[in-house]
Amino acid sequence: MTAFTARGVTKTYGGVTALAGADLTLRAGSVHALLGENGAGKSTLIKVITGAVAPDGGELRMGEEPVTFASTAQAAANGVAVVSQELNLFPDLDVLANLYPMREPTKTGFVHRREMRERALPVLQQLGLDVDPKARLGSLSLAQRQLVEIAKALLVEPKVLILDEPTSALDSDSSERLLGVLRVLRERQVAVVFVSHILEEVMSLCDEITVLREGRTVLDARPRAELEIGDIVHAMLGGREVSSVARAASTPSGPTLSLAGVTVPDRLADVTLSCRAGEIVGLAGLAGSGNTDVLEVIAGLTKAASGTVTLPDGKGAPRDFRSAIADGVALVSGDRRRVGLMLDKPIWENISQVQPVALAGATRKLSSKALRGTAHGLAERVGVHPIDVDLRAGLLSGGNQQKVVLAKWLAADPTVLLLDDPTRGVDLGARAEIHALLRSISDSGKVVVLCSTDLDELAAICDRVLVFHRGRLCAELAGDSIDQHTLLHTMNTGTTTE
Ligand SMILES: Nc1ncnc2c1ncn2[C@@H]1O[C@H](COP(=O)(O)OP(=O)(O)OP(=O)(O)O)[C@@H](O)[C@H]1O
Ligand SMILES: [Mg+2]
Repeated sequence: MTAFTARGVTKTYGGVTALAGADLTLRAGSVHALLGENGAGKSTLIKVITGAVAPDGGELRMGEEPVTFASTAQAAANGVAVVSQELNLFPDLDVLANLYPMREPTKTGFVHRREMRERALPVLQQLGLDVDPKARLGSLSLAQRQLVEIAKALLVEPKVLILDEPTSALDSDSSERLLGVLRVLRERQVAVVFVSHILEEVMSLCDEITVLREGRTVLDARPRAELEIGDIVHAMLGGREVSSVARAASTPSGPTLSLAGVTVPDRLADVTLSCRAGEIVGLAGLAGSGNTDVLEVIAGLTKAASGTVTLPDGKGAPRDFRSAIADGVALVSGDRRRVGLMLDKPIWENISQVQPVALAGATRKLSSKALRGTAHGLAERVGVHPIDVDLRAGLLSGGNQQKVVLAKWLAADPTVLLLDDPTRGVDLGARAEIHALLRSISDSGKVVVLCSTDLDELAAICDRVLVFHRGRLCAELAGDSIDQHTLLHTMNTGTTTE
């Protein structure tokens, strides 16, 4: 049964065409993947369908009935719920109030809140979200906030549920659980739309696939069983090639970054390792294994209780954020929503945020013209699209915002580049370009250390991968022995032997 259709949807913003005649056909009881490169128009189409953005043209039908929604609230009232790419939550309210944004308790508050709570608890439980409904939303982790947003959509009991990159902030356990919830919704005849850049996830979950390219539908509701990953990639890229990255050309011999016996209570136990300039070193591990803690210790964000960190120039770990930049240490986080960007500021200001600090002349002022020029060059290097540095960062698509975060740190020209899931939300073409860029930065004599939840990424670009398990460094893989299977096994068991 057709639950919802969008036909010929168009939308332009100033000179930018976001949608140029997009179609989407959703069936009840089917999980539908909406795919496409960064900037292809996925989020815009979703905003049109859910009443957040008015289209320039096109037609929407709920079942057979033509519909237009003036707001997401109206869409929700008609059974169309959305979990958007940018979270729409109120950090100062508690979890429960965030779950029912239209129904803040009034005078009869207590009764109302009790009902709200009783309805919410099973949904929170189903998602594995173990938080106090009275906790302030702002105190939750990004993944927990993402789950609150999902719970909010589920509480509407929608006929159409749209999720825009819902797993991008979740660890693999929470993602699996969410995918399980979506399977249950499919049985309950909900039409589910799911946006993701992780094609394995898409192939294991979805029944049908629609691909957008440059605002048009190029694969229209095709059954997944009829498609190979190659067909989807081809549709997304329109025949462009994705490059693969070579390993280090020669044995790295540059200066070394090292940790000796570093311990952080409850997080890291006696970690000793070294990374040379000219090699890309991966740090793998499950959430809480300590791999990302190593990045924080090197960047000076977490202090080691014992042990030493030695930067390539012989100095110890930076004291704080500012001195890290001055010492040439950059930590690029995949959590762009929290630490990455000033969304209401132009791209060039975002990219220029750390560079003046890096040039250390707190006294030295750079002209905005010079900063704009540098920003343009860097935006081009990481592939920001559209390339207009005066555009507000918040107007870029999600993946393009992530590229701006990377450009910002490259502007500081760091000697130690630390990356935590740097290509989260970035499409596969741009991801390959960023990988090539990391290789060239490494080749130019920089230390590059990378944490990633994407094992494919670690296998694709690392010369060595150090695997962490429960706070300890438990194994080292090198060259061709770095493959997804071995990584997964080692991360879960703490040993390479089967
Ligand atoms: N409010 C806006 N003003 C100007 N341009 C916009 C606005 N919203 C979206 N765009 C542009 O429209 C195009 C489509 O963006 P959209 O967010 O739909 O992409 P997407 O497919 O969701 O990408 P991603 O995978 O990166 O999330 C992009 O070029 C984007 O910069
Ligand atoms: Mg998007």
